[in-house]
Amino acid sequence: KGQTMWGGRFSAQPGALMQAINVCIQYDKRLANQDIQGSKAHAAMLAAQGIITEDDYKAIDAGLDEIKIEIQEGKFPFKDELEDIHLNIENRLKEKIGEAAGRLHTGRSRNDQVATDFRLWVRNHLNLFDAQLTDLMAALLGQAEANTDTIMPGFTHLQSAQPVTFGHHMLAYLEMFARDRARFKDCYKRVNESPLGAAALAGTPYPIDREATANALGFARPMANSLDAVSARDFALEALSAATICATHLSRLAEEMVIWTSAQFQFIALSDAFTTGSSIMPQKRNPDAAELVRAKVGRIMGALTTLTLVMKGLPLAYSKDMQEDKEPVFDAFDALEVGLAAMTGMISDMTPNKPRLAEAAGAAFSTATDLADWLVMSLNMPFRDAHHVTGRVVAMAEKQDKTLDALSLSDLQSVEPRITDDIFRVLSPLASASSRTSYGGTAPSEVAKQVARWKAELG
Ligand code: ARG
Repeated sequence: KGQTMWGGRFSAQPGALMQAINVCIQYDKRLANQDIQGSKAHAAMLAAQGIITEDDYKAIDAGLDEIKIEIQEGKFPFKDELEDIHLNIENRLKEKIGEAAGRLHTGRSRNDQVATDFRLWVRNHLNLFDAQLTDLMAALLGQAEANTDTIMPGFTHLQSAQPVTFGHHMLAYLEMFARDRARFKDCYKRVNESPLGAAALAGTPYPIDREATANALGFARPMANSLDAVSARDFALEALSAATICATHLSRLAEEMVIWTSAQFQFIALSDAFTTGSSIMPQKRNPDAAELVRAKVGRIMGALTTLTLVMKGLPLAYSKDMQEDKEPVFDAFDALEVGLAAMTGMISDMTPNKPRLAEAAGAAFSTATDLADWLVMSLNMPFRDAHHVTGRVVAMAEKQDKTLDALSLSDLQSVEPRITDDIFRVLSPLASASSRTSYGGTAPSEVAKQVARWKAELG
């Protein structure tokens, strides 16, 4: 049968294959509301400029309203043959209002239309992420406020380093998410420009008013170069970059939650709402939500990589490659949305295990630096010597299987006779953390100041 050289191997004819590779309605239907919004603004401008009649405008506008409702109610007949959301809606409009539908596309192309829709969609999500990040920051702030003086081990290399406060640890993440929010806000400025009216690539001879459509759609201004307007996707790359960075922060916090809920740590507990059991091991309570949040950065950064490679090397202006821009962004933003929501839920849900945190804070000679600092400050010992003396004290404590603050004064004096009992003032984890009052330090007094600052900021 096959009329083509390769026909024998394929059951589908070239026409069907063309449709199979070309069709995108199955995912770009997510742009339906933005497409209608853009078309309504364009039609209103065409009428105001006398390019179409008032009657045609009314028919178009009413028809688009009906279509919007059909889509909301799940009654819109999406057709693969019509390729994308733009042609599906235009065709439906023609079924509804006849010939006037054909006038909507005057002075416009699908190239500026899709760029406009996509920017509107990304813009909505930047607003959503702003609100979600604010909620997450508020949840972290709540935990920080309740735990300004909850002592826990601070780590470097995941080895006990110096005691810190749980509130301080929460505020560290709050700072990261605040920067993520600022990044999205800055990105918003470059997303929020209107490509509409750039037409296919060169502009249009019709007397259109691009300021008017930009205004109607809430854009700050029309884009100044028609070639750039239809070809630029850096707004999406930038949003994906910010999303990737934000997802790395979520991933780090999620990783800590996975570690902290383990039987070996037991630093925090999560409720049934964010854990699951095992189908074989009855004792298990797995932190699945945290693990999934930890993983989301993979898809999100994957999307950034995908779109970067799609855009790389594309000549101006529009090429069909750019139809591949939407799926990765949809997938990445869905992942970030659910990840932010789950993390906010877990942070609000978690209970720090204070006795266990305090015990862990004192383990592994975590106040050794404080001991060395005491020798420097009280005995005027050079820090290098103090480091050496402290090392010998640690070795002795290790041998006796004691924490530093459990050693006797005579034990301490057997290493350095000038030590007095004043040293016990600095050997407990709480004393250690409380002494770190430098700006941004972990002392409860400093953490309380930062909590107050963030409360004022978040309102
Ligand atoms: N579905 C297309 C896309 O998403 C719309 C633009 C089509 N433009 C064209 N010249 N074929 O990119």
